[in-house]
Amino acid sequence: MGFIEGLYQEVAQALRKLEEIPVLETGISPKVGVVELLKMALKNEMEASQLAALWMTSTSEIDIKLGLARQCGDEAKHYRLIEKRLIELGENLDGFSPLAMGYSPLYQWLITLESSIERVAAGPFAREAIAIKRNAQLIAVLEAMGDQLSADLYRNQIQPDEDWHHNFGLSMLRKYAVTSELQEKASLATIRTIELADELRSAAMAKSGACVIPGC
Ligand SMILES: [Fe+2]
Ligand SMILES: [Fe+2]
Repeated sequence: MGFIEGLYQEVAQALRKLEEIPVLETGISPKVGVVELLKMALKNEMEASQLAALWMTSTSEIDIKLGLARQCGDEAKHYRLIEKRLIELGENLDGFSPLAMGYSPLYQWLITLESSIERVAAGPFAREAIAIKRNAQLIAVLEAMGDQLSADLYRNQIQPDEDWHHNFGLSMLRKYAVTSELQEKASLATIRTIELADELRSAAMAKSGACVIPGC
C-alpha cells in the first residue's frame, strides 16, 4: 500500500465515529439549534482563515503559499456567508466575536507546526477531511430541522471550497512527502489533528447539546 492510501485508511478509520447517524433531540426548537450551530461555524471559519494566513507568511514553497492564500480567502468568505444567514434568521450579531472565548485547543496546537509537510497534512488534508464529513452531516441535520436555505448554503457554496482545500492538501502531500521521514511527520500530524478535533467535538456536543458540529 502506498503512503497516501495508508494515510487515507487511517483517516477513514478515525472518522468512522462520524458516520453514526446523528439523533435529533426531540423538543429542541429548530431555530435555536440552527443559530447555535451556525455560530459555532463562525468560530471554525475564523480560525481556519487566520491559520492559513499565518502559515502563508512563513511557508517557502510557492504552491503551498498560494494554496493557503486561497484557503484564507475562502474561509473568510464562508464566515460572511454564514453571518449573512444568521442575520436572515433574525440573529443580532452586533458586537459578536467568535473569538470572545479564546482559540480552540486544535488551533493552538496547529499554530505550533513549523514544517510545510506537517502543515499541509494537519490543515488542508486532515482538518478539511473532517470538515467535509461534518458538513455533510450538518446538511442532513439542517434539512431535518427544516432549514433548507442553510442546507443549500453549505451544499452549494461552502462544501465545494472545502473539497478544494482537502484536495490541495492531498496534492501537496503527494508532491512533497517523498521520504519516509517526511511521510512519518505527515502521518503523525494527521493523526494528532483528528484526535484533537474529536476531543473538541465531544466537548462542544456535551456543552451545547448539539448533535452535530460544523466543519470549515
Ligand atoms: Fe476549509
Ligand atoms: Fe470553510
